[in-house]
Amino acid sequence: MSSDELKRAAAQAALSYVSEGMKIGIGTGSTAEAFIHLLAERVGDGFHVTGIPTSERSARLCIELGVPLSSLDESPSLDLAIDGADEIDASLNLIKGGGGALLREKIVAHASSRFIVIADESKLVPALGSFPLPIEVNPFGLEATRGAAQRAYDSLGYSGELRLRVRDGQPYETDGGHFILDASFGHISDPKALSDALHLIPGVVEHGLFIGMTTVAIVAGADGVRTLVA
Ligand code: 5RP
Repeated sequence: MSSDELKRAAAQAALSYVSEGMKIGIGTGSTAEAFIHLLAERVGDGFHVTGIPTSERSARLCIELGVPLSSLDESPSLDLAIDGADEIDASLNLIKGGGGALLREKIVAHASSRFIVIADESKLVPALGSFPLPIEVNPFGLEATRGAAQRAYDSLGYSGELRLRVRDGQPYETDGGHFILDASFGHISDPKALSDALHLIPGVVEHGLFIGMTTVAIVAGADGVRTLVA
């Protein structure tokens, strides 16, 4: 099966968690988009759900395909959220934010009773950190924040680099108007310690480590679809 077929298989399996009338957080990225397409088919068949999108991009696709939307302000408690991931470790801790939506994704996941991650098996890793960790930062004082983040990594014994994400020659801007530093420091031996250290930096808005948030990971591979429980 191709990677797209595996993403679709994981998304299809996630549909079994969606019940009539639910308010669901809708993630960002190609796997989340596979889910949006399948959800839209169910909505077309008369199924009622309300989606709370984690990005303008996902919102546009939902609108295009006819998935009814609400905002987190109108619906602050969600039944579940369904999203992709860049890396998933054995404890179902994640790196997210490759698509730049990590802040809204984390807010939506936190507001949800259950957080379901969908992925193809390439996202399963023995330890987080091969994928650069996205760190969303306020543009104000960018270099001071970058320096503080570098020192946080140094103090925890990591070596690597922080690179400003760029698109079309300009700093990549998130839906919230922030920038992203992609942190390539290899294997993250203690995700919680790194998370705590990054959260102490005022210019850091959020980072892409999702620790202890995942309820279930639905992972599709050559041997079929597996459901992993934290
Ligand atoms: C976006 C994300 C995505 O969920 C993550 O990048 C995975 O994307 P894809 O499903 O395209 O592999 O965190 O911010």
